[in-house]
Amino acid sequence: MVAPTHFQSAIVLGAGVMGSGIAQWLAQNGVKVEIVDTSLPLANEAHKRILLDWSKLESKGKFSSEQVRQFQDNIVALETSQMSHNADLLIEAIVENESIKKQVLKELDQKLRPHCVLATNTSSLSVQAISSELSAERQKRFLGLHFFNPATIMKLVEIIPTVETSMDLIADVEKWLRGLGKVTALCQDSPGFIVNRLARNFYGEAMRINGPTLNEDKMRQIDTIMKEVGGFKMGPFELMDMIGHDVNYQVSQSVWQAFHQEPRFQPYRLQASLVQSGHLGRKSKKGFFRYD
Ligand code: NAI
Repeated sequence: MVAPTHFQSAIVLGAGVMGSGIAQWLAQNGVKVEIVDTSLPLANEAHKRILLDWSKLESKGKFSSEQVRQFQDNIVALETSQMSHNADLLIEAIVENESIKKQVLKELDQKLRPHCVLATNTSSLSVQAISSELSAERQKRFLGLHFFNPATIMKLVEIIPTVETSMDLIADVEKWLRGLGKVTALCQDSPGFIVNRLARNFYGEAMRINGPTLNEDKMRQIDTIMKEVGGFKMGPFELMDMIGHDVNYQVSQSVWQAFHQEPRFQPYRLQASLVQSGHLGRKSKKGFFRYD
């Protein structure tokens, strides 16, 4: 068995907000990465964003040109039909939908090499449930690795074992992540883990104070108070706009459902309106605020 503390190669499945951040972070840390999406243009778009970010960081003096050249050599963008299946680690960062994740991972399980560690970046779904259709051997090498956005900057990674996950693997992965400067938190496989469970009320109460329509002055006031007085880096409204309302609404619903519709976790109807109108936050240039 290859020791996971020496991941040399990785596949990041899903080249969206999280997948691109995780792939960028891996490439910066010497791991050969395939960033993969359902179509090549989607994967290429993420690749372009990563290259642009490195060039900005190089011009700010955060990385040398030599470092950036090495990072560039570590990453390739592919569509799913082109991926190698040869990696030591595969991190899944596709849509937050249990049945889709299960189906995709079940198919991958057949093709990946036996030593490959499989991880899901789910924010709120049951890691145990996602693992249910994997082979018994892969289940021992399957875990939740919940990175935060932006994954290159945010230090925290929640680690979520299932009942089958090898505890040696967990210890190795923890060591590997810490060695690369991440702060790890071992979590139970309960809805929202730690951060997203706590965060439901950070977002939910802010939306209830704002009321049923978008009130820009109120939202800015709440964000300002939480930052200036509360010491948070971002207020709840700008943070939800950064996460994306499609993703955040899905997480709100799954945490609420998993807690048997407990009122304190109930999603807010404004979230549904934003998603239905395509106002997904920064990624669509409009959410609670405009980003023209
Ligand atoms: P996103 O919508 O930005 O990206 C998802 C990507 O996956 C899209 O590019 C989509 O084309 C691709 N995709 C869908 N099905 C696929 C398949 N079968 N094979 C390959 N690619 C596929 O979503 P985001 O925000 O990156 O979220 C991804 C996962 O990470 C979700 O499980 C989410 O809950 C989780 N997450 C999100 C965070 C956030 O702040 N947005 C934070 C931490 C976790």
